[in-house]
Amino acid sequence: MKNYGKYSKSYFMPPVPSTNWVHKSHIEDAPLWCSVDLRDGNQALVIPMDLDKKVEFFTYLVHLGFKEIEVGFPAASETEYNFLRRLIEDDLIPDDVTIQVLTQSREHIIKKTFEALKGVKNAIVHLYNSTSLAQREQVFKKSQDEIIELGVLGAKLLKEYAEKEEGNFRFEYSPESFTGTEMEFALKICNAILDIWQPSKDNKVIINLPSTVQVSMPHVYASQIEYMSENLKYRDHVIISIHPHNDRGCAIAEAEMGLLAGAQRVEGTLFGNGERTGNVDLVTVALNLFSHGIDPKLNFENIPDVVHFYERITGMFVPPRQPYSGELVFAAFSGSHQDAIAKGMQYRGDHQITGWSVPYLPIDPQDIGREYGSDVIRINSQSGKGGIGFILNENYGFDLPPKMREDIGYTVKNASDHLNKELKPNEVYEIFKKDYVNV
Ligand code: KIV
Ligand code: ZN
Repeated sequence: MKNYGKYSKSYFMPPVPSTNWVHKSHIEDAPLWCSVDLRDGNQALVIPMDLDKKVEFFTYLVHLGFKEIEVGFPAASETEYNFLRRLIEDDLIPDDVTIQVLTQSREHIIKKTFEALKGVKNAIVHLYNSTSLAQREQVFKKSQDEIIELGVLGAKLLKEYAEKEEGNFRFEYSPESFTGTEMEFALKICNAILDIWQPSKDNKVIINLPSTVQVSMPHVYASQIEYMSENLKYRDHVIISIHPHNDRGCAIAEAEMGLLAGAQRVEGTLFGNGERTGNVDLVTVALNLFSHGIDPKLNFENIPDVVHFYERITGMFVPPRQPYSGELVFAAFSGSHQDAIAKGMQYRGDHQITGWSVPYLPIDPQDIGREYGSDVIRINSQSGKGGIGFILNENYGFDLPPKMREDIGYTVKNASDHLNKELKPNEVYEIFKKDYVNV
């Protein structure tokens, strides 16, 4: 690891780093959510979804409670164009759901985007152009002023095209590669776009600040969000949206700190699908809020179903240690953990407790459709009499006396040790039956 000298240590901190948000310990309310599964998520799949899968995914996102869903970049591919037409023509978009479409700042692309949107009731048209130093110098070969001109041109075109249509259109602007952009310049270009769109109480505009590539520690991103939140024009009529990617593994931290720092909306995907290391995982952000007693306003009551659906449609895999959703994230194999959970549950049963405080369980797994018998108490050579007794009681109704529990506990543990495998409840029962049940 000799080449570390070529990486920069700090990325465009705001001119006056402001960190009021660090004094807050909780997010007080659910943000607005926007699913970008069908766009950012889809564009990163080995095999992008076909039209039918997209329709199925869209319907599922609606069922999960998403009210804003980015459905694609309709000018970029025929499938995306046809998908949007299908949603509109087959009347598949509920009245309380707003679809979002992505566009670049080029007239023929904007024209095609509005063609694809014909007949839509509610839509957010999402304009982006890249603003970072690296993109300006290496890719676009444009000065700061030329990049502003490009963004402003797109903003004007969006306004002109939307005025000719009947639907209810709102606008979003993303300075793509925001985290690699000098903050004064990011502010300048966003304010120039806002001057064109003239946000008002009835015409709120979304400014989306992506960590297109995550390049700094999460508190730096949060300070950038706070700087924008404190300095943007028309602030009362602007919704600040964040769009963390996960290159440094900090997408959740960026989302939570970004919300503390003034953001009101989060764009992300189920389980963090998306470009490279992915977008922020909205399941985790939402359930982290839930674990703090805040209604996330998304329906994650049946996480196993969400996992199953996602894996089937995307061909991706939810890792076993994915927060809240992975197969092993509530599992207690070890005897001391099993014992503490059993005692915690017993204590809960015996006392009037308002909050959730059972040891080793961040939330009640049952709240998201997970089961104690199969997801929590799992038996292998590390397990204890408490866990084995729990399995026999929960699944087979044997409430064993302490001495017998201890005895069968040792027998089952030893069997798992010798076989070198986990024992499922029916296998525990078979061992129990052989030694203790007269048949
Ligand atoms: O990551 C990103 O910057 C994007 C933009 C198009 C918002 O996906
Ligand atoms: Zn993105």
